[in-house]
Amino acid sequence: MEIPGPEPRPDGGLGAIAEAGGLHTYQLRLHAEHGPVVRFQLPGVEEAVSVADPVLLEATAHIDKRPERLFEFLAPLCEADNLQVLAADQHTPWRRLLLSVFAGRPSHERHFARFTELATDLADRWAARAGGEPVASQKDLTALTLRMICEYSLGGDAADPDKVTRAFETVLTEHLGRLYQVPVPGTQDERTRRADEALAYLRATVDRVVAAHRSGGRADRSDLIGALVEAGQSPARIRDTVMVTLLAAHHTTGVAVSWTLHLLGRHPEVAARVTEELDRVLGDRAAPAYADLRRLTYLDMTLKEAMRLYPPGPYGARETTEPLVLGEYEIPAGTTVFYPFWAVHLNPQHWPEPQKFDPERFTPEETAKRPRYAYIPFGLGPRSCEGAQLATVEAQLVLAVLLKRLAFRPVPGHEVTPIERFVLWAADDIPMLVSTR
Ligand code: HEM
Repeated sequence: MEIPGPEPRPDGGLGAIAEAGGLHTYQLRLHAEHGPVVRFQLPGVEEAVSVADPVLLEATAHIDKRPERLFEFLAPLCEADNLQVLAADQHTPWRRLLLSVFAGRPSHERHFARFTELATDLADRWAARAGGEPVASQKDLTALTLRMICEYSLGGDAADPDKVTRAFETVLTEHLGRLYQVPVPGTQDERTRRADEALAYLRATVDRVVAAHRSGGRADRSDLIGALVEAGQSPARIRDTVMVTLLAAHHTTGVAVSWTLHLLGRHPEVAARVTEELDRVLGDRAAPAYADLRRLTYLDMTLKEAMRLYPPGPYGARETTEPLVLGEYEIPAGTTVFYPFWAVHLNPQHWPEPQKFDPERFTPEETAKRPRYAYIPFGLGPRSCEGAQLATVEAQLVLAVLLKRLAFRPVPGHEVTPIERFVLWAADDIPMLVSTR
């Protein structure tokens, strides 16, 4: 059977995406109008197939290839191969190595104290604003998570974390800002020079950390660069891996927290349950220990529900390497499969009243009733997010530190509009009024 979808247009689909307000909302519209499997024009690859049914997604979960053209924009951040589209035979060992660091308890424990200090600094700064002007939660939280991942990846000692953080922001503004036509000060030449210098500085910083490891620095599975050096990765691949980690890790984790605060600010009854749990588990302590995190089950359910309603990475992509059957449809090899994570999370077949914020959806009993891929904020299969566990630890810790001390209310009259800026971003930030508890 032919896959349904809108009539092709001569502009290659650009107009339809713009009219919908962006690709993230266009996909919601496509699935609402055409059902769970839709073909549509996608600039860059001509046509793509979007699948919003979690059971049909199973047929695609093994695919280990991303469409190169859609990820070309990330090529300037890599010196060796573009890591987003690395060939499967090289990707598999690289992924295993990353997981051995990011997903392992040693690295979480090693960085936990520093993460707690950084989160506490933000809580202090926000507490000083209690009863006054609103805080820009998205801006401050993405700055915090960038700082966290810079220190995590490069270590606190070998690098100047302030300078590293600023340099990475410069690189991002140039390379991703251009993608979204975000105005950047200066002439194009000046901006390119600034971004090139910042990238060169970051790469030289990684090289210094690598050299320190080679000359006998400590290396175990808690340390990203150490693990990469020991696994015999090339210097260029190590620099690229750090760059891609910073890129993949910071906005995503920051907005996971700011969207959660946004929802809690609008649902005081849920916020009250979260703080009750924090008081019960932490007592008088201002911050959790690493071992406390798994006792903060309601906080975790709340974070999950926030990432369902606002998945920080709203979509992903694969390219089929063989013909596939998707229910009543067949797609040939070479098809671009576009994953609409947001539409999957709002699929009314698996999420009754999909727009309602209800952390109870994530009790173990409710979770067990749903198909495996009904909830996929970190993607699926061999190209899914290697940072999922680390991100969860960071987000839970930051939420626990902030919510133990502070209460958040929305700013009356400020409308929060999700837009797509590489991540699911709030157009004019998520300003919040803060009070101390
Ligand atoms: C809440 C925070 C985060 C979210 C929601 C998120 C989500 C995602 C998603 C949706 C993908 C694409 C998956 C796919 O195509 O199936 C991805 C890829 C990736 N993420 Fe994350 N991420 C987060 C944090 C992190 C962190 C903290 C790190 C690293 C420390 C990280 C590292 C990566 C890497 C390296 C990839 C590329 C995967 C590959 O191609 O093998 N992410 N992430």
